[in-house]
Amino acid sequence: MDPASLYILRYPERVLRERAREVPSVTEEVRAVAKRMIELMFEAEGIGLAAPQVGLSWRMFVAHVPPTEDRSVESDPPTATVEPVVYINPVLSDPRGELIAYEEGCLSLPEVVGEVLRPEHITITATDLKGERFTRSAAGLLARCWQHEFDHLEGVLIIDRMTQMSRLKNRAAVRRLEKSARL
Ligand code: NI
Repeated sequence: MDPASLYILRYPERVLRERAREVPSVTEEVRAVAKRMIELMFEAEGIGLAAPQVGLSWRMFVAHVPPTEDRSVESDPPTATVEPVVYINPVLSDPRGELIAYEEGCLSLPEVVGEVLRPEHITITATDLKGERFTRSAAGLLARCWQHEFDHLEGVLIIDRMTQMSRLKNRAAVRRLEKSARL
């Protein structure tokens, strides 16, 4: 498989609905795919991208939530990242705080934006590109991003999670995607 040939797939592509498989070990191929995914995420101006979105049913995603006036890498827990981070075989734990509603989009669902409720804080444990496990906590947009990307590994999309009101608002856009896939 040539990582250069990977591109971002759109709903209703089937792989987006599958539960992704564990990555058995961090090989050169895994590193090359991660690098390509970061490139695609930047090109598309997204803050996260999961392997199923490029057609690979692997438990891996990349994310980069750059700091802004209201997001920081130094807050406790952080709400932003210094650079893109790769999360392999991630596990989420310890959801905390209130459920916050916030408008989410997804690179695999262009034109679709809807309110999704998620806990404010979350902890993630994952393997890095050296094959080492690490654990971090996050709040704000970073915590949201991890939860959104993790959902992709379970075959779950924002259209499954959004509020009833957002679902109605996006119905036409979702249909357009379904229709264009059949052409
Ligand atoms: Ni997404």
